[in-house]
Amino acid sequence: MAKHEELPVPVFETLEPVYGGGSELEEAQLRYDNLKSKFLSIFGHNPQLMARSPGRVNLIGEHIDYEGYSVLPMAIRQDTIVAIRKNEDQNVLRIANVNDQAYATCTYPADPNQELDLKNHKWGHYFICGYKGFHDYAKSKGVDVGPPVGLDVLVDGTVPTGSGLSSSAAFVCSSTIAIMAAFDVNFPKKEVAQLTCVCERHIGTQSGGMDQAISVMGKAGFAELIDFNPIRATDVKLPAGGTFVIAHSLAESQKAVTAATNYNNRVLECHLASIVLGIKLGMNPQEAISKVKTLSDVEGLCISFANSRNSSDPVLAVKEFLKEEPYTADEIEEITGENLTSSFSSNPAYLDVIKVAKHYKLHQRAAHVYSEAKRVHAFKDTVSSELSDEEKLKNLGDLMNESHHSCSVLYECSCPELEELVNISRDNGALGARLTGAGWGGCAVALVKEDIVPQFILTLKERFYQARIDKGLIKENNVDLYVFASKPSSGAAILKF
Ligand code: GLA
Repeated sequence: MAKHEELPVPVFETLEPVYGGGSELEEAQLRYDNLKSKFLSIFGHNPQLMARSPGRVNLIGEHIDYEGYSVLPMAIRQDTIVAIRKNEDQNVLRIANVNDQAYATCTYPADPNQELDLKNHKWGHYFICGYKGFHDYAKSKGVDVGPPVGLDVLVDGTVPTGSGLSSSAAFVCSSTIAIMAAFDVNFPKKEVAQLTCVCERHIGTQSGGMDQAISVMGKAGFAELIDFNPIRATDVKLPAGGTFVIAHSLAESQKAVTAATNYNNRVLECHLASIVLGIKLGMNPQEAISKVKTLSDVEGLCISFANSRNSSDPVLAVKEFLKEEPYTADEIEEITGENLTSSFSSNPAYLDVIKVAKHYKLHQRAAHVYSEAKRVHAFKDTVSSELSDEEKLKNLGDLMNESHHSCSVLYECSCPELEELVNISRDNGALGARLTGAGWGGCAVALVKEDIVPQFILTLKERFYQARIDKGLIKENNVDLYVFASKPSSGAAILKF
């Protein structure tokens, strides 16, 4: 049997295989009916097909995918649906949203080689990422998709934006898959995961591939261990008796907008840490600059060093060779023998970081990455161990707490609202709680025993959300959009009715 990731994106004629039964199916049916009738009224014809791709919550393995390490997320039920039709009469891409109050219709030329105007950020840019990505990839595979044609597109998303639940990947993946299906192509899921990861970088963030991989390859009932290079997904059945509760800190995390000081800054710090470690562990500086990209590239050298001290922990090399005080650009340039801007002249995202960075915390970032990578495997090993479910849940909670501490103290990607939420969660029965996704706002995820979930959510409402409702930050009626229990849901699909 072909492996899960080798299969094409599934095509369904009904919604049950995606949304299961019960109230979720009913809600989904209403959304699809509404999308279809709006499409008809906006564009004057029915959509050719629809594609959907979900958001995700990362259970453990934060900020390590771009360093080449495995992560462990699960897909959530909130998703983005894209209805599409080729429109040979118009040579433009018309991208509308069911929520036209918040998202005005965008139009773009049908040229797949267009450049995105990043200074003028528009929501439709994410669709164009998928559009460019699909055409580039088809071309690289020698798949002839004919001359560019117009597309009519209508989008309906329920993943809250800026929440750390990957609304952007849900949108880019559903767009790419809808475009791919409209052109009668269906690549294997691992290729879709890879190409959507690469094309989302057109938006300006140097993200790893976690969000797209889980959105495309998620499976109902399972979290997934995602490996990279090559991309692979392994089902992880979570122990019975535990539930993940997702809670929004109400601080918006705008990854693309804050990239130069937050997300891309950390990617560059890790890159610099790996180059400096490579040099300190014997590589020639020129070779390190040209060959070393990630901390996983120099892990072998770090482990050899650790072995000489009777250990196998790469963090030992971090402690030995990277000072705890932040490095200035001058100090790094002295080690590498090259100016930072010339070392990274081909990477505009890095150049933006270098312009505003005061210093680089190499020790802390590398220590986080190596230790977090280990926790992912400890999490997976715990799940598949012989321990009782009760013991497993306790260990998983401990690992989540350790992960949060590392994100907060070493990686500095938390914020006061997330700290408050994590502390309230732990004080009120969570076995573990941590920020999830890129951080700097967005959501926390807590592991909670199933039988206390309703009480736990009620307590979060009282202790965290009520004050924010009183201040007018959110409406009382909407609080269930910000705090909810989540089961592992299914991944991307194409729907042809
Ligand atoms: C964002 C990125 C992911 C990953 C997480 C942090 O969601 O898109 O690739 O790096 O942040 O774990």
